[in-house]
Amino acid sequence: MYILFEGIDTCGKSTQIELIADKHPEIVITKEPGGTPFGVKAREILLADSLASKRAELLLFLADRAEHYEEVIKPNKYKLVISDRGFLSGIGYALANGDFDFNELVSLNKFALEGHFPDKVILFLTDMKTLKERTEAKSLDGIELRGLEYLLKVQEHIKESIIKLGIPHLFIDATQDIESIHQTILTYLKV
Ligand code: TMP
Repeated sequence: MYILFEGIDTCGKSTQIELIADKHPEIVITKEPGGTPFGVKAREILLADSLASKRAELLLFLADRAEHYEEVIKPNKYKLVISDRGFLSGIGYALANGDFDFNELVSLNKFALEGHFPDKVILFLTDMKTLKERTEAKSLDGIELRGLEYLLKVQEHIKESIIKLGIPHLFIDATQDIESIHQTILTYLKV
């Protein structure tokens, strides 16, 4: 089973993945971008936000996704795999960048994933107040520096995309405390 943890920066998904990984060493934990040796190099370029072309950026995220599918998802198809981000970030961030068509993005992502979308997605939903507090407390990468309004737009696009595509999902209120979110996730995943 292939499960995505999705949400904008500082929503707490990485913390929740760590808590599950500590309890369940049998679960394969991975991420996009950067879950393969090629992905590590792609991630460095992508997080620097140095590409002039948003199409080049999208294609590099897609190349990372295709390599990740081949190297990590496919070989582990009989295990529980949790990925910190995936194609829904791909669609959400691209839509917020403007100039991209939803159906075209779905086709491109299907191509990268050989038609296999994740089985479930857990989306962490935050708000402006929490986002402001949490981003002030950390140093930001190039993409995060695009601003808080941009990030909330991404969040809305991810949420709408999940609903439009009919992917089984759990929406989490990311402003809740860490332990209660953890329990909600364990119940949903039945682990
Ligand atoms: P993170 O791994 O620290 O969350 O950083 C990844 C960044 O890349 C984050 O800002 C979201 C962004 N991103 C995209 O813009 N498109 C994508 O397809 C993916 C997977 C991530």
